[in-house]
Amino acid sequence: MKHPKHERTLVIIKPDGIQRSLVGEIVKRYEQIGLKLVGIKMLVPSEDLVEKHYTIDPEWIRLAGEKQITSARANGRVPISEHPLEIGTIVLGHLKKYLTSGPVIAMVWEGAHAVAIVRKMIGGTEPLSSDVGTIRGDFVLDSYVLANQSGRAIRNLVHASGSVKEAVDEVKHWFRTEEIIDYRLVQEAILYEDFMGGALK
Ligand code: CDP
Ligand code: MG
Repeated sequence: MKHPKHERTLVIIKPDGIQRSLVGEIVKRYEQIGLKLVGIKMLVPSEDLVEKHYTIDPEWIRLAGEKQITSARANGRVPISEHPLEIGTIVLGHLKKYLTSGPVIAMVWEGAHAVAIVRKMIGGTEPLSSDVGTIRGDFVLDSYVLANQSGRAIRNLVHASGSVKEAVDEVKHWFRTEEIIDYRLVQEAILYEDFMGGALK
């Protein structure tokens, strides 16, 4: 069995993250927690790439719609529709516009619990309710209400895989095998090895 330190996750800095000059800030946070950057590239995604990305999980359209309905009800608002599939399909259309509107940076980060750690640091989908201290909670102020008013996707700076299975599929979707580099970081000894690199040996 592979050591857990080899878990990988996909992170995309969305077009608003690039336009807000947050690339360094976002990369810094993942570096500082001890994750290893094993793949990175800048591109302007096609609508097809975006649609396939969000439909790798056949349940995603329904779940995205449900998220918005749950948030509306919890805040005493009437959802724009009672049908999650209808909302999810609208969201997918908005996402195609959003993610193809400029360059994005796609990255693969590797390390123990990479998927869960990266999600924790990104925060919840809606910046208005994302925790303070997370990327979405600290650097942007969008909400379902604002996004619905303008008929667009929520602008929340970053995408990150939601589960280990999603991560495996998404990394394959965005990167060819040879674009991911297998290498050792010296700090891995401190993070994972019994004798912390043997500093006093
Ligand atoms: O990105 P995350 O995994 O937190 O959320 P998601 O449910 O997988 O949705 C992907 C992206 O679609 C979100 O990050 C938002 O940009 C957008 N979205 C939206 O605008 N409205 C929704 N009701 C759900 C998602
Ligand atoms: Mg997601």
